[in-house]
Amino acid sequence: MNTSRLVYRSRQFWQAISTGSSHEDTELAATILTPPQLELFQQMHRSEQAHSLRVLKELRRQGEDNSDLEIAALLHDVGKIRTPLRLWERVLVVLVRKICPNCVKKWGAASENEPGWRRAFVVAEKHPAWGADLVSQSGGSALAAALVARHQEQLPPNNEKKDSNEDRLLYKLQVVDNQS
Ligand SMILES: [Fe+2]
Ligand SMILES: [Fe+2]
Repeated sequence: MNTSRLVYRSRQFWQAISTGSSHEDTELAATILTPPQLELFQQMHRSEQAHSLRVLKELRRQGEDNSDLEIAALLHDVGKIRTPLRLWERVLVVLVRKICPNCVKKWGAASENEPGWRRAFVVAEKHPAWGADLVSQSGGSALAAALVARHQEQLPPNNEKKDSNEDRLLYKLQVVDNQS
């Protein structure tokens, strides 16, 4: 990894764990989410809210305006509210994901009630499914729930050429999520 890439990644990392969202951002979220969905959004960690808002804004900047994609942008990580993690646990997952992505998958397959350090990996692996349930329960469409459920799914290369609308939106969400 060259120096500028390393600086970019470090900035992205600290932004991811330290930034909060503003009052204006919450107002923006309220224009997209229903009241029960906004309540879920507000239960997310402030830095996760800010990340989700960056995803939304970047998708809009790229000309995307699908309402289910916008809901998924704001709520794709909402499953994390089921088991909030401490800062060191979130840092651990980010680091291990960079060094050994398969370890995240392996340790994340443990039970939800896993005590100790593995808990962070269970949340990392299972929050898409937990989030999709919350989105469905809050009245989200099947498409919005599917985008949340699949936001970490490994897509085949050149997936942007797929003609299914769900896959196209999922690809956009994943690319922007990874950059935000
Ligand atoms: Fe996620
Ligand atoms: Fe995300």
